[in-house]
Formats: sequence, C-alpha cells, structure tokens
Amino acid sequence: MGSAHRQKLTHDYETCKKYLQDYIVDVVVMNNYQYTETQDYIDGEQLLLHDLDDPEIRDQFSDIVDKVKNMEDDGYAPIDLIGVGGLRKIYFSNIIVDSHKKLRIIDATLLECISLGWRAWICRPLLRCAVKIQHNHISNISNYKQ
Ligand SMILES: Nc1ncnc2c1ncn2[C@@H]1O[C@H](COP(=O)(O)OP(=O)(O)OP(=O)(O)O)[C@@H](O)[C@H]1O
Ligand SMILES: [Mg+2]
Repeated sequence: MGSAHRQKLTHDYETCKKYLQDYIVDVVVMNNYQYTETQDYIDGEQLLLHDLDDPEIRDQFSDIVDKVKNMEDDGYAPIDLIGVGGLRKIYFSNIIVDSHKKLRIIDATLLECISLGWRAWICRPLLRCAVKIQHNHISNISNYKQ
C-alpha cells in the first residue's frame, strides 16, 4: 500500500474518531511496515430499518446523523456508513447494533479520493454517487415513521 493510502486511512480514522468518538470501532495497526490494520469483531447484527422502532437505537442513529452533518459542515467528506452493501438498497453496512444495543461504526473511512492523488480521481464519480445515495438513505430513514 502506498504512503498516500496509509495517510488517508490514518487521517480518515482520526477524523471519524474526532466527530463520532465511541461509535467508531477502534483500529489497531498490526504491522507498520506492510501496513495491516485490524478492528475488533463486533458481536451483533447489522442495523435494519425495524431497529429504529426502538427509541434507544433511533436516538443513537439521529446523534450519528447530526455528527456526520457537523463533519460535512466543517468541510470534510462524510464517513462511509453504507459500504458497498448500501449502494443498492436502504442499508448501512458499516453500522452494527451490538449486544448492548449500542450502535458501532466499522470500516471508518471518508467518502473522498482527492487525497490519494490524481490517479484516484477516476473513483470520484462513484464516491459522489455514494455520498448522494447515503444522503438519500438518511433522509428516507429520518422520515421513517414507526
Ligand atoms: N468488525 C466487524 N464486526 C462485525 N461485523 C463485521 C465487521 N466487519 C465486517 N462485518 C460484517 O461484514 C459485512 C460486510 O462488510 P464489508 O466491509 O466487507 O462490506 P461493506 O461494508 O458492504 O463494504 P465496504 O468494504 O465498503 O465497507 C458487514 O455488513 C458486517 O455485517
Ligand atoms: Mg464495511
């Protein structure tokens, strides 16, 4: 992995931690030479629409949405909450409901590629599309009535 990729991973993780604190699952760098990251396996289930019927989970989700908005207001790209799995249906592949009903965010990365240099700009349309899809998912869920 090139140094730009490593820097992006570190920068994205630290930025996500700054805004979303304990929601972000900790990442540990195991091997700095070949650069290997690990994160804990979260015992739980992926966040599904019906989970939001529970006020405790709904409040946490709203809090996450507010914090992601703060991030964007401060000029950062949003954190990737939907993952590849959320591109085709309303689904947040990177949010897990753990066994204590706490929302945990895995794979903390920002939906941008500019920091990776001009060769990565080919990914820009896809990432812009992902940001749009994520915004749509969030507004659809925010309008979701129990
Ligand atoms: N640390 C983890 N703890 C618990 N479940 C996990 C963890 N990492 C991955 N998973 C499970 O694996 C599923 C697939 O994750 P994966 O990251 O491969 O795909 P994705 O989120 O759709 O895409 P992306 O690579 O863009 O994040 C997740 O929805 C989640 O259920
Ligand atoms: Mg993921």
